[in-house]
Amino acid sequence: MITIDKSLCIGKGSERYCYRHPGDQDICIKVAYKAARNNKQNIKEYQYYRKRLKRVSSWAHIPRCHGWVATDLGSGLAFDFISDMHGQPCKSLHEALASGALSLEQLAGPLEDLRSYLLKNRIIVCDLRSKNILCRTEGHQVRLYLVDGLGNGDFLKIADHVPALAKAKIERHWRRLMVEVEKL
Ligand SMILES: Nc1ncnc2c1ncn2[C@@H]1O[C@H](COP(=O)(O)OP(=O)(O)O)[C@@H](O)[C@H]1O
Ligand SMILES: [Mg+2]
Repeated sequence: MITIDKSLCIGKGSERYCYRHPGDQDICIKVAYKAARNNKQNIKEYQYYRKRLKRVSSWAHIPRCHGWVATDLGSGLAFDFISDMHGQPCKSLHEALASGALSLEQLAGPLEDLRSYLLKNRIIVCDLRSKNILCRTEGHQVRLYLVDGLGNGDFLKIADHVPALAKAKIERHWRRLMVEVEKL
């Protein structure tokens, strides 16, 4: 059982806290606010990684999932910790645009890279928002990582099996993301 010190918290999303792993600087652990009762987001994401993402050929824009870890805050899901070149947390796309640290023009190329990666690997998204995308600065380049909102939210997950439907779904969510980021 891993004991999580609250000072290891790197982010708070809509359902989960994200902590650095106390013994492994490359790993983060996501724990639901009320882990004991409600671990829905972790369970859904774990299923999507296990069933659908095992065929993904590159992890250039999403973290790997390393499975369940028992913590004193409940059952957590471990992922690659997406950090900058100094090991520090990255800004989200939302923060980067809202603070003016990066402009939409500077992000046009990185956004296109992420879009084509999702399409190529048929990674279905259900919550494609600027807060779920991290900006990793690599020298003069920026690489975007989608760290949350992966998976098909439909009751009948037909798009998981029909590439044309997967593509249409990804494109639809992408258009919504563009509307969101243009307002930031
Ligand atoms: N793999 C990761 N590497 C680094 N930081 C992350 C990672 N996953 C999440 N975070 C940070 O933690 C925050 C909350 O995580 P998120 O998965 O979005 O939780 P929720 O599902 O509750 O919205 C993110 O906005 C991001 O800042
Ligand atoms: Mg989130």
